[in-house]
Amino acid sequence: MRIVVTGGAGYIGSHTCVELLNGGHEVIIVDNLVNSHREVIERIAQITGERPLFYEADATSDLAVDLIFSTHQPEGVIHFAGLKAVGESVQVPLAYYRNNLLSTMVVLDNCLKHGVDRFVFSSSATVYGENQVPFVETMELGHRTNPYGETKAICERMLTDVAEVNPQLAVTLLRYFNPVGAHESGLIGEAPQGVPNNLMPYLTQVAKGVLGELQVFGNDYPTPDGTGVRDYIHVVDLAEGHVLALERAEPGVSIYNLGTGKGTSVLELVEAFEKANNLKIPYTITARRAGDIAECYADVRKAREQLGWTAKRDLTEMARDAWRFEQQTGKNNS
Ligand code: NAD
Ligand code: UD1
Repeated sequence: MRIVVTGGAGYIGSHTCVELLNGGHEVIIVDNLVNSHREVIERIAQITGERPLFYEADATSDLAVDLIFSTHQPEGVIHFAGLKAVGESVQVPLAYYRNNLLSTMVVLDNCLKHGVDRFVFSSSATVYGENQVPFVETMELGHRTNPYGETKAICERMLTDVAEVNPQLAVTLLRYFNPVGAHESGLIGEAPQGVPNNLMPYLTQVAKGVLGELQVFGNDYPTPDGTGVRDYIHVVDLAEGHVLALERAEPGVSIYNLGTGKGTSVLELVEAFEKANNLKIPYTITARRAGDIAECYADVRKAREQLGWTAKRDLTEMARDAWRFEQQTGKNNS
């Protein structure tokens, strides 16, 4: 299939482009590089031996998206483009609502206009709020958590409303748990700007000596060791899930959790990282981070039963690949 990938130069998007190209699909990346770098396109070509088409363009621009769709007549879209920093979304909510909602509206509108029937959307486990774990797709969405999370919930509802009156449209909402790791080549991975907010990129920077020590945000949660529990998933498993979701898309709305189904605490992740990479991570326990929940992990039965997808890579591979990318490519390259 010919697939437009918005945000395809980003962390999850670039890994998905690799898997799409490996699967024989044609890839057209639309990215304004607000949180990524042009070299990523070269690296995708280096890994796969296939060069994706690339447009440096804003997915909120109707003019740009219309032109790209008219030129290439895609058969499907994966819409990754969006801003994703939770803290920043509290500081500049309008920028988040504008970018995340408008880009989704513009891309969806052009799907309808150009007869593109497959729309895969990057959602997040954050939409479950403080529901009881494991999170199941049939649960009501949770309470709003922050403007970033709210943009995901609104887009999910918007896509659902539009699918209802466009029966040919296959909308797939993929709710990611905690994507970590990198491609095994070490050529693409996650390189956040500034001090990382998320645990794995923070760990790799402590390992590298860029940051002094890890602060563990609270050890008084009702979890086995008191630290927060999350469902870490290797980004290549996640990318493979996108290819299957796209290939198996059926008219209507389909929602899938993409996680491993296994909860891992902060201290367990630190230990797995130390073992996998044979190094020590200094850490201290500090106060809880505002807005954090105790536990977040997926019920993964639906993706297994309906997509035939399960996450295959374990914590050791996640830790090893994240560290390899940090050493090999590191900062300034997403
Ligand atoms: P990322 O920032 O690495 O990738 C997003 C890409 O979109 C970047 O390359 C950025 O330049 C581009 N972009 C942003 N706004 C754009 C616009 N208006 N037009 C064109 N390009 C634009 O982030 P990621 O981690 O790869 O996340 C991809 C998607 O998955 C996002 O929608 C994010 O909210 C969602 N998501 C991510 C996580 C996670 O933990 N990484 C979890 C759940 C959901
Ligand atoms: C973050 C986002 C969430 C998003 C999710 C998916 C925030 C507040 N939330 O949440 O919206 O859906 O990623 O990727 O950013 N931790 C530490 N020390 C650190 C960093 C993290 O102890 O320096 C702990 C956290 O308290 C948490 C765990 O590590 O228990 C994972 O944190 P993080 O990687 O930020 O992911 P989420 O909290 O799941």
